[in-house]
Formats: sequence, structure tokens, C-alpha cells
Amino acid sequence: MDETSGAAAHAVRQLGAADAAAFRALHLEALRAHPAAFAMAYEEECDLPLTAFRTRLDQQTVFGGFVAGALAGIATLQRHAPLKRRHVAMLWGMYVKEEVRGAGLAAAILRAAIARAEREVDQLELYVAVGNDRAGRFYRRFGFEPYGVMRRSLRVDGVDHDAEMMVRMFR
Ligand SMILES: CC(C)(COP(=O)(O)OP(=O)(O)OC[C@H]1O[C@@H](n2cnc3c(N)ncnc32)[C@H](O)[C@@H]1OP(=O)(O)O)[C@@H](O)C(=O)NCCC(=O)NCCS
Repeated sequence: MDETSGAAAHAVRQLGAADAAAFRALHLEALRAHPAAFAMAYEEECDLPLTAFRTRLDQQTVFGGFVAGALAGIATLQRHAPLKRRHVAMLWGMYVKEEVRGAGLAAAILRAAIARAEREVDQLELYVAVGNDRAGRFYRRFGFEPYGVMRRSLRVDGVDHDAEMMVRMFR
């Protein structure tokens, strides 16, 4: 992949159908560990068959970061489909395993997603839960700016969470 970057320790590439099992495991780990950080719910994803993840990886742009050959981080880039929204892409599902946080893998993944987005769209948007300060700081470091708050963005086990909406403009 042309976004492959970094030293071997931080290899980043777009995932394909062959990565479905590793992607599924990491995606489910993310949803279970951080329910307020993701719109998808563990309980609606955990019973999906592997073929559903193969299809997802065929149809969506998912970047994976590898440590010593093992998938340790993921993020999905999704360009809006409607004609009048095609200048915008969303970033979602950004997750790195706890033991490799703070080591630059998340940055390498985000750089790959930004590089792809910058070629295809005029702006990249994301939502981050209010109170998820680590993720908020991380995105700010890459030039994402808050433009508003989505009230009650997620309801998790009866608790409401607001989300900060962020954008990075390319042009
Ligand atoms: C969000 C995530 C991908 C960022 O990756 P990371 O490796 O942790 O990122 P970094 O350590 O490079 O940067 C995080 C920033 O938060 C800071 N930070 C570290 N621990 C922190 C804490 N407990 N509270 C607040 N900020 C913290 C770091 O110093 C850094 O700030 P800086 O850029 O100003 O130096 C990762 O933390 C993660 O997977 N979190 C769980 C899932 C999640 O929240 N995903 C985002 C969904 S929108």
C-alpha cells in the first residue's frame, strides 16, 4: 500500500479481507473496553460472522497498524456517498491496544488516514466523546479543530454522552 509508513515496528497499511479475523478481534476488544468511545455496540457486533468483517474490509477503507507483525491498531476512513457530501470523509473506529499507546502507532495510523483523505476530500471529520481527553488531545495534535458539541450523542447503559465534533480542513 502506498500509505505504508514508518519503521518495521510501526508498519501501517490498508487492511483487506484476509485480515478479517485479526480486525474482528481488535474491533470487538475496542467496543468492549471503551463503550462510550464508539457508536457501535459490542452486543450488536459480537455475533456477526467472519464473512461480515471480510465484506466490511472489502468495501471500506480500514487502516491497520502492526507491531512485530501483529495487528495492534485500527481506524476507518469513510467518504460520504451523496453527491453533495462527497467532499467530506469521516474517521471512526480509531483504536490502539492499551499496551502500545503513547508509542506513536496511533499517530502512524492517523497520518496514513489523513494522507489518503487529503487526496480524496476537502475535509475530514470525526466525533470524540466529551471527556475522552486523551483522544481529544491526540486529534488536536493533528490539526483537528472542534466545531460544536453533539448533545446526547450516545446513550450507553442509560448514561448519556455528548460528543465533540471535530474537523480538519485540507483546502
Ligand atoms: C485515542 C488513541 C487512539 C490515541 O492513541 P495514543 O497512543 O494513546 O495517543 P498519544 O499517546 O500519542 O497521544 C495522546 C495524548 O493524550 C495525552 N495523554 C496521555 N494519557 C492521558 C490521559 N490519561 N488523559 C489525558 N491525556 C492523556 C498524551 O500526552 C498525548 O497528548 P499530547 O499530544 O498533547 O502529547 C488511544 O488512546 C486509544 O485507542 N484510546 C481508546 C479508544 C478511543 O478512545 N478511541 C478514540 C475514539 S474517538
